[in-house]
Amino acid sequence: MEFQYIIVDPSFKKHIALVRLNRPKELNALNLQLMLELKSAFASLDEDDEVRCIIITGNEQAFAAGADIKQMENKNAIDLLKIDQFETWDQIRKTKKPIIAAVSGFALGGGCELAMTCDMIIASESAKFGQPEIKIGIMPGAGGTQRLTRAVGKALAMEMVLTGKFISAEEAQKAGLVNKVVPEEIYLDEAVKLANEVAMMSPISVRLAKESVLKAFESGLQEGLYFERKNFYMCFTSEDQKEGMSAFVEKRKPNFTGN
Ligand code: HXC
Repeated sequence: MEFQYIIVDPSFKKHIALVRLNRPKELNALNLQLMLELKSAFASLDEDDEVRCIIITGNEQAFAAGADIKQMENKNAIDLLKIDQFETWDQIRKTKKPIIAAVSGFALGGGCELAMTCDMIIASESAKFGQPEIKIGIMPGAGGTQRLTRAVGKALAMEMVLTGKFISAEEAQKAGLVNKVVPEEIYLDEAVKLANEVAMMSPISVRLAKESVLKAFESGLQEGLYFERKNFYMCFTSEDQKEGMSAFVEKRKPNFTGN
């Protein structure tokens, strides 16, 4: 697929792919075409054995300022139902490889929701997170009321969703929405550092562990514990488990192959 609104580099660094949202004039507003491109990019990076971690970013000014309001303005509910764009979002959520959002500037509405669909967030000091849909007469639709509430708790989520107020990177970190806040000049490097740490691990363990953490995030505790247990057993069917444990016992670095 030819991409118009994103730039994809599958071998940005060893085992690390970079996806860049690239509609700078519109502050990376997420139109339908861009979302389809993202779906396609994530699907092919997920299939690529060389890729162990994916970073998604925008530019210094904006990660993404939300879904494209101009594209939605004249739509009615049935139009949206027929377009069914959430299928695209669900597909991104189903990516097996870990995804790190490197966020600078605006992460608003669908932009905040896209960042929250990722597994970890590295923010630059200029990042601003918000769900301002209420100000344009709608409400979050791509997980904002659910993922934000689980990440920052009811009080702050309610305030953000009902007033549309933005929070700074620092507040977002305090609230548990982002992993780390760093100066704007190094936010991508910091995301690469984190991606590198993940990429050194066994891809099988990483995949199963990601799946299990998401299970905790997205479901009840008992169900999550059973799910985790099942995936824990499954790790022991891999060669990487044997390699990882024998490397520990032999006091050497493991060489994980993904088998
Ligand atoms: C379409 C957008 C846009 C958006 C910005 N632009 N956000 N276009 N959809 N979400 C465009 C502007 O129209 C403008 O283009 C250009 O980007 C620069 O924006 P300005 O407003 O001039 O910049 P600034 O004054 O710096 O203000 C930045 C801003 C503001 C605070 C981020 O742009 C803003 O409030 N944007 C909308 C944020 C928002 O409400 N997001 C939620 C969308 S609904 P032109 O050509 O006009 O100059 C949503 C629902 C998701 O996300 C549901 C799931 C799909």
